[in-house]
Amino acid sequence: MTPPPPDQLPQKPRLVVAITGATGAIYGVRLLTLLRRLGSVETHLLVSSAGWLTLRHELGMEKSEVQALADVTHSVREVGATIASGSFATAGMVVAPCSMKTLASIAHGLSDNLIARAADVTLKERRRLVLMVRETPFNLAHLRNMTAVTEMGGVIFPPLPAFYNRPESLEAMVDDTVGRVLDMFGVGPALSHSWAGLGKDSEA
Ligand SMILES: Cc1cc2nc3c(=O)[nH]c(=O)nc-3n(C[C@H](O)[C@H](O)[C@H](O)COP(=O)(O)O)c2cc1C
Repeated sequence: MTPPPPDQLPQKPRLVVAITGATGAIYGVRLLTLLRRLGSVETHLLVSSAGWLTLRHELGMEKSEVQALADVTHSVREVGATIASGSFATAGMVVAPCSMKTLASIAHGLSDNLIARAADVTLKERRRLVLMVRETPFNLAHLRNMTAVTEMGGVIFPPLPAFYNRPESLEAMVDDTVGRVLDMFGVGPALSHSWAGLGKDSEA
């Protein structure tokens, strides 16, 4: 196949961002906010029905406010969307937060909605897939599904705070985690704190 002419190549790297119905909608929102501020990434947003529910419940955000943070929003039922095909180049996909239901769907290659399909495409094209899974405690199905995604090349990235950075607010704590996730895609300047070590007092 002839490659597209240079003027039709994407100007910016594209990142698929999905928000599902696990608690922690703030992770998806901060991620989109940071990307919007960076301005160097084209974002493709997907939100599940349960994701819209948690966005409203946890953050009081309506659809239009969330959609305004992304460059393109796709319905999860739109299985014919650009991001449903591997021929549409992306830098990868992040699910922030990722419910156990969506994790299971991805782990078993169900492609039963556009979130699972886009993740399936990301894995088959050997692109970066990061799942910010959220549940506690885990049952064996959750653990097995996380193992399966890891074996397929995906990254399981539960949003666990790093207290050694001494975050002074909830927002700082969330941004630190989101920065670590974005750094995994190498689509912009490093966003997370680089550990400087404890110096002379580092022996336990
Ligand atoms: C307020 C609220 C919090 C929830 N938190 C979680 C959670 O942390 N992890 C999880 O796996 N499911 C959680 N759920 C349940 C999911 O929303 C539910 O399983 C849903 O079917 C997930 O669908 P989705 O993956 O398509 O978003 C929560 C539901 C609600 C209403």
